[in-house]
Amino acid sequence: MKEVKIGILGLGVVAQGFLEMLTSQKQKIEAQKGIKLIVSKVLVREGEEKTTIANKYGFELVTDVKKITEDDEISIVIELMGRVHPAKEFIKQALENKKHVVTANKDLLAQEGLELITIAKENQVGLYYEASVAGAIPILRTLATSYFADNIQQLTGIVNGTTNFMLTKMFEEAWTYEQALQAAQEAGFAESDPTNDVDGIDAAYKLIILARFAFGVNLTLEQLTIQGIRQIHPLDVSGAQQLGYTIKLLGSLIKKDHHLTACVQPTFVPDTHLLSSVKNELNGIFLKSDGIGESFHYGPGAGALPTGTSVLADVLTIVDRQLDGSATARFNPYQQPVHLEKDPEKTNAYFISLSPQIERKISEVQAELQTTFPKTIAQVQEATNQVALYVVTEQLTEAQLAELLAELTNYGEHHQPLQLMEV
Ligand code: HSE
Repeated sequence: MKEVKIGILGLGVVAQGFLEMLTSQKQKIEAQKGIKLIVSKVLVREGEEKTTIANKYGFELVTDVKKITEDDEISIVIELMGRVHPAKEFIKQALENKKHVVTANKDLLAQEGLELITIAKENQVGLYYEASVAGAIPILRTLATSYFADNIQQLTGIVNGTTNFMLTKMFEEAWTYEQALQAAQEAGFAESDPTNDVDGIDAAYKLIILARFAFGVNLTLEQLTIQGIRQIHPLDVSGAQQLGYTIKLLGSLIKKDHHLTACVQPTFVPDTHLLSSVKNELNGIFLKSDGIGESFHYGPGAGALPTGTSVLADVLTIVDRQLDGSATARFNPYQQPVHLEKDPEKTNAYFISLSPQIERKISEVQAELQTTFPKTIAQVQEATNQVALYVVTEQLTEAQLAELLAELTNYGEHHQPLQLMEV
């Protein structure tokens, strides 16, 4: 039986999930594809103690990447180290040595992906990264194949498990932000430094990759509007609950005429919307397109076995393509010169919670607000121990929102405005 040798860079949670899935699916792969996948070498850091795992799966541990990237017998390299450096340099070496590469590295693909895609193309090898976005959900492959036949208008997703877990606990268990973050870190969903999770950067990286597949557009982090979940106030949570909404960190790509808006922000999602049912560390991606209409993709966005399965699926895609002689085919064939444009007339509806000045009568403030801003609804809300106001606006431009916020300071301290999801 033909043997395909694999080298892995990194032996963390995802690599171990991959090894477990490869072992459990071995028989099926051999019977159906007629090939034997063999992990021959795994790169670990100097001094990293992984001999038990190496003995269990029967591979060699190496600390010099060249032992993998320059091994003529290895044809597929899987990068599971994370972070941009030195993963980028190692992947480059592998591609330049004509190895196909599979990676789960979203930071790298979002920031340096185009360069790596070009190097892969020049060297006529494949570069696959399904696991970089939404873990186990086969969304990139589905966008590259099934949706290539369609015209996508909107992609809205929950693509960061950490923040979704935190928001779920803040809503359902009334946990504080700090409690929720600590639990997410303990459960292993969060990045080693959770800044990128809570500030929306991790979701933005995933959105950049999704934009290439869904719209053929290359975005940079600077072109996205990014807002994390640090500013969410307990009054926002209770207000959302009272109004029949939940708050989710949504990544959205919305195409209208020639405008594409791209943003990551905490958003009020109606309890009736499918995305509100995506709880804890799970991910979900909602699409609107001309042909298919509305569709929804749901599943685990992180974790050893889910992400490991996604990596294995990429390896099997490469194997299939090697077998049918199309190994150089690109993962994402879509590229078009659409530019991201900001539409100053774009409007949104907002929720704004407000801790009113205690010396003023709530009913007075409420009446005044309604007179000044007929487009707003003001209601008294009993939060934990506070009386608070919240304002739900109708559609406002950014300029109109700024005007409203300035006015609101006359009535008390307002918290960050949160957009209501466009449905
Ligand atoms: N920190 C990431 C998340 C891991 O919470 O979604 C998976 O990319």
